[in-house]
Amino acid sequence: MHTSQEHLELGQFIPFIYHHNMLADPARMSAFRYAINFAVPLGSKVLDLGGGTGVLSFFAAQRAARVWCVERNPELVQAARRLLAMNYGSEKVEVIQADAFDYLPPEPVDVVICEMLHVGMLREKQVPVLAGFKRRYLEKFGAPLPLFLPEAFIQAVQPVQQSFDFGGYYAPIPSLQDPSALHPRTMELAAPALFQLASYGESLPVDCAWQGEITLAQSGSLNALRFITKNVLTIVEKEQRSVDWFSQYLIMPLSDPLIVAAGQRISVSFAYLLGDPIATLKPVVTLIG
Ligand SMILES: C[S@@+](CC[C@H](N)C(=O)[O-])C[C@H]1O[C@@H](n2cnc3c(N)ncnc32)[C@H](O)[C@@H]1O
Repeated sequence: MHTSQEHLELGQFIPFIYHHNMLADPARMSAFRYAINFAVPLGSKVLDLGGGTGVLSFFAAQRAARVWCVERNPELVQAARRLLAMNYGSEKVEVIQADAFDYLPPEPVDVVICEMLHVGMLREKQVPVLAGFKRRYLEKFGAPLPLFLPEAFIQAVQPVQQSFDFGGYYAPIPSLQDPSALHPRTMELAAPALFQLASYGESLPVDCAWQGEITLAQSGSLNALRFITKNVLTIVEKEQRSVDWFSQYLIMPLSDPLIVAAGQRISVSFAYLLGDPIATLKPVVTLIG
């Protein structure tokens, strides 16, 4: 059993070594770079919450006049200062060691970048951080709110048959999947069903509670759900499209697997607080009829 303080720490501490994986993820980097280039107006003011190594502040500094890069972990604050100094535009970026739950910039900003994203909007504190930020920002500066990048998130759930065989060892445990890879150990039993859509500029939810029905397209052993989170980084209105980035998919094993046939209907339900640990997601799946 975790204390609530441990819950908070777990989601907010990302060991330095993992930042290489984030920097080396081509889908993440190109989507954020493109979205920031598009959404940050020339000469604007930008706040980057959860700045990490400073890479998104660097992208923003290519267009903005001023960037505040807020990072809580002192090791990353040092790293961001050192790395930004090696890159073009760093004189526009101020790296601040602070908690994004408290911090407000010294003046109004045009764009807020925040990448504390995790599939399901679990674990990391993106939604609670931005909900609190909006409240405090409006109190201090009044409307309008800045543009948020990402602008929105869309979540879906998909019934799957997952292999949990590891060299003969059966271990049904949660796992993450690269959205751009093939997954030969996963068989999709139905199309993903949407369960949540929220826009950072609008009122933000604190939780996710869903009960829905899905018709299966494939027969198999329904032993897991795949959770899918699409982050709408920015909307390119003139091209009528969005720049999207998918968080890694989450495969969540079911405690009671079901043998199912194509055409059968299932009921799926779950409820959790956004930002809570992955283990709090306990979906219940039952056959209808
Ligand atoms: C997923 S990483 C993204 C880092 C960087 N923005 C990037 O895109 O590479 C999230 C970052 O947010 C930081 N962070 C988490 N909670 C925070 C908080 N409450 N205040 C400030 N930074 C926080 C973490 O230390 C981590 O560096």
